Amino acid sequence: MTEPKKLFIKTYGCQMNVYDSERMAEAMGGEGYVQTDTPDDADMILLNTCHIREKAAEKVYSELGRYKGLKAEKPDLKIGVAGCVAQAEGQEIMRRQPMVDLVVGPQSYHRLPELEAKARSGQKALDTDFPEDDKFTALKSRPKAKRGPTAFLTVQEGCDKFCAFCVVPYTRGAEVSRPATRIMDEARDLVDRGVRELTLLGQNVNAYHGHDKGLGGLIRELAKIDGLQRIRFTTSHPNDMDDDLIAAHGDCDKLMPYLHLPVQAGSDKILKRMNRAHTAEEYLKLIERLRSVRPDLHLSGDFIVGFPEETEADFQDTLDLIKAVEYGSAFSFKYSERPGTPAAERAQVPEDEKNDRLQRLQALLSQQQRALQDAMIGRDVSVLIEKAGREPGQMVGKSEYLHAVHVQAEGQAEGIAPGDMIPVRIVSSGRNSLNGDVLPR
Ligand code: 5AD
Ligand code: SF4
Repeated sequence: MTEPKKLFIKTYGCQMNVYDSERMAEAMGGEGYVQTDTPDDADMILLNTCHIREKAAEKVYSELGRYKGLKAEKPDLKIGVAGCVAQAEGQEIMRRQPMVDLVVGPQSYHRLPELEAKARSGQKALDTDFPEDDKFTALKSRPKAKRGPTAFLTVQEGCDKFCAFCVVPYTRGAEVSRPATRIMDEARDLVDRGVRELTLLGQNVNAYHGHDKGLGGLIRELAKIDGLQRIRFTTSHPNDMDDDLIAAHGDCDKLMPYLHLPVQAGSDKILKRMNRAHTAEEYLKLIERLRSVRPDLHLSGDFIVGFPEETEADFQDTLDLIKAVEYGSAFSFKYSERPGTPAAERAQVPEDEKNDRLQRLQALLSQQQRALQDAMIGRDVSVLIEKAGREPGQMVGKSEYLHAVHVQAEGQAEGIAPGDMIPVRIVSSGRNSLNGDVLPR
């Protein structure tokens, strides 16, 4: 028997890249590759990259630099770049790093086996097309291996919103929704293999239209699958939260009370210049509607500070909006100029100003996160156990609000395994997680 070839994949960026990497590993499994967790013994290295901010894109080139020695020692080693940097800078990568054998954009993964064969034959292989066919259908299906309790499932890709700062509409292309029947099949298969919680992914997931009743309709249908206990989705645009999706937060038990709903900024002037197509007040009204159907909803968001022409007063509007919402968690970034996007051409905010605003914004957000975590003390949650914790006997899982929760597996908790859903009383709050006691079941 011949030794299987080894594939090392390094994934950067968003959850969709995590999902794509899994699917690429499975597709290459069909070509005789097994995954390895170190580049040192790999026959093929694949970097699944992110182009959202400048720093993310630069990481790719420095990572490639590290593989020079390996490639010199092992001329048969094939190096590939996938993901959004591949899409945006494919030709340039080949020029800047001649050791790269293969470049594949996010919509061409189903062609990865062919591209690998081409690279093996000594040619350079590049594919950054946006083909009509659904890459997920063309990709070999997932093998029937057992899975952990949580999984991502991409339902929608691409974005038609064209926020003035964002490369996604260029790197991932126009919005495409996968048909509901295929998603249902994949979801059933994942549940059969042990998955209890699904996170539906899309760059603009709530613009999903592969079901005649939109994302809400898909969620209600998924909720009928026995054995599937929890459904989440990310990332949403405020303007695509339709009535049925809002209602689902109140009447669909399996839809978890946690919503990532980026607003980016709190000033109407900046929102307009960002091309977000809504005001701060409209966003706050939407949150109010969501909370009226689900009062305990935890909110998460994304924020950009130092967008071109943002003044101190505009920044204060962002702080005010954050104070009005009270986020359970949030991600915040300094504006990063992205080539080809409209905002890159405008007057930029000085770097030290951006640093200062980011610090103040993050101080407020962590204060809110901490306050909401502390407010959980004494409350009962249900925890879907994912794995063993760092300390002996400890298990870790997630609450319905997506807090990481640690429980001790002594006494009552003994015998608790990944995939179990257990009632827990929260007793204390740490930096980024909660600790709880297992309640009698
Ligand atoms: N600069 C800074 N942050 C950005 N994001 C997207 N593009 C940029 C950029 N050019 C952030 C937004 C988005 C998240 C995924 O990344 O907040 O919601
Ligand atoms: Fe980018 Fe999201 Fe705006 Fe689309 S909606 S352009 S993915 S920030």
